[in-house]
Amino acid sequence: MSRTPVVGGNFKCNGTVKFIQEHAEVLKKIENNGVEVFVCPTALHSSLLQSLMAGSHVEVAAQNMYFQKPGAWTGELAGELLVDAGIKTTLIGHSERRRIMGESNEESAKKAKRALELGLKVVFCIGETLAEREANQVDAVNFAQLEALRLITVEADWKNIVVAYEPVWSIGTGVVASPAQAQTVHESLRKWFAEKVSAKVAQEIRIQYGGSVNAKNCAELSSCKDIDGFLVGGASLKPEFLDIVKILGDTKKKM
Ligand code: PGA
Repeated sequence: MSRTPVVGGNFKCNGTVKFIQEHAEVLKKIENNGVEVFVCPTALHSSLLQSLMAGSHVEVAAQNMYFQKPGAWTGELAGELLVDAGIKTTLIGHSERRRIMGESNEESAKKAKRALELGLKVVFCIGETLAEREANQVDAVNFAQLEALRLITVEADWKNIVVAYEPVWSIGTGVVASPAQAQTVHESLRKWFAEKVSAKVAQEIRIQYGGSVNAKNCAELSSCKDIDGFLVGGASLKPEFLDIVKILGDTKKKM
């Protein structure tokens, strides 16, 4: 297995100062077992968690950024601010941004492009809704989300991008995609990369699965050849996040 497995923890709009202090003690126990690990606290808790995690195996990343330069954008965070704060990676296009905040495919792509220009790594989230799945639109929806980014990037950009495939129907619902469902989509995504970008990118790009991942269901998903890791929401706020990292690392080592 040539791709380094990667697990992210997305805290979303959760956490208190006390929780972050306590959870940092848990996260510090994550050992380097060949899995890259990042967590995305709220912007308010970011610098606190960065200082608590210094010297650990866990990187502190951002949940979102704006595509404009710093300026009069009340409530937004320009990428320059993330860079200045020592952030190296940001999620872009999470389905909660797309579906709830109305972020279009083009806006998500623009944000990702700006992040890459600033030297940030991007975890680019894509995924279909249940209605889209039922209408046999899985590939069409995911490909369109990727295509918006492909149109404004070059091949070399993809080495700084991780794709997180997160079916919307699975996020926060407790309904995890079956390993077969997830593997099928991941394989189609790799085929899309082979056709639209290059065989090299198709082989090298890391694709995480996200949506109700927990310590119980992650082993089977880990054993799927095109699943390179997870983007974890709810379970990243719990000690079982450690188990997810360990199970993924152990499973991939055996493959
Ligand atoms: P969940 O969230 O693990 O709570 O389903 C995943 C995500 O939104 O990244």
